[in-house]
Amino acid sequence: MKQVAGIQLMQGVKSIRDVDVQDKRVLIRVDFNVPMDEDFNISDDTRIREALPTINYCIDNGAKNITLVSHLGRPKGHAPEFSLKHILKRVERLLGKEVAFADSIESVKVLQESISTANAVILLENIRYYEGEEKNSDELSQKLGALCDVYVNDAFGTSHRAHASTYGIAKYVKEKVAGLLLKKEIDSFAKALANPLKPVLLIVGGSKVSSKLTLLYNILDSIDKIIIGGAMSNTFLKARGFDMQKSLVEDDLVAEARKILDTAKEKKVKIYLPVDVVSTDDIKKHEHIKVTPAQDIPEGYMAVDIG
Ligand code: 3PG
Repeated sequence: MKQVAGIQLMQGVKSIRDVDVQDKRVLIRVDFNVPMDEDFNISDDTRIREALPTINYCIDNGAKNITLVSHLGRPKGHAPEFSLKHILKRVERLLGKEVAFADSIESVKVLQESISTANAVILLENIRYYEGEEKNSDELSQKLGALCDVYVNDAFGTSHRAHASTYGIAKYVKEKVAGLLLKKEIDSFAKALANPLKPVLLIVGGSKVSSKLTLLYNILDSIDKIIIGGAMSNTFLKARGFDMQKSLVEDDLVAEARKILDTAKEKKVKIYLPVDVVSTDDIKKHEHIKVTPAQDIPEGYMAVDIG
């Protein structure tokens, strides 16, 4: 495997195109963690659309059946608002095909055996309803593995998690490959880092510094500038000494963020943080909204966006 900035670029990873799916039971771990409003209207279905090439590839190449496994949100127990039933219609519409819904792993088995039409697509209920998912339980991994002959990981947005459906399952399936989306992301990452046109600018966001710490440290030797946005910029702004008021901050990582700022300075990597922010005192009401310099967030307000 090729290494750039300590990151395994995994370019040699096998993809769905390298295996024969004809008459096979294929399980695809997708990332259908799409944003929805209170009425369960999907506000952005990009993640579903991005999974279509792999699903269609399996259909076009004669897979016996295709089981889609995904999480939605971070449910505690069986909270119904996180049911994948809310996205079933959209998956069917985008795929142009009926999709059977399975409430449980046992129902997937029953559906796989009872649906006689070729290339049947089955959507399993939110995998995070299973306690063993996030614990990467061996039992759950084995149960999922028993549902397929070919395991495909196409959940790019979730593949950094060592969960049963993204990681543990691989132990129990002989044929395991990357989906077309995962492969596309790996190839783009490799292209951007292996031989880039200088200067290289990294734009990073999201809510948590914690999930990007290793990346940030590893990448400092390969890039010239970083723009940090999203809620994680709050932790960096706090590390710079700003009073972030009620903003979402990972307090236990402020020292680490300071270290990254210092290391970047030593390595002459320029870090850009928001100079002004949009803040509110109640994120649900949207009544009081202010745009102020990042160091002047009003008392009791929280930064919710860049200015
Ligand atoms: C995401 O939205 O970032 C992915 O779907 C992963 O979700 P998670 O952070 O809840 O694991």
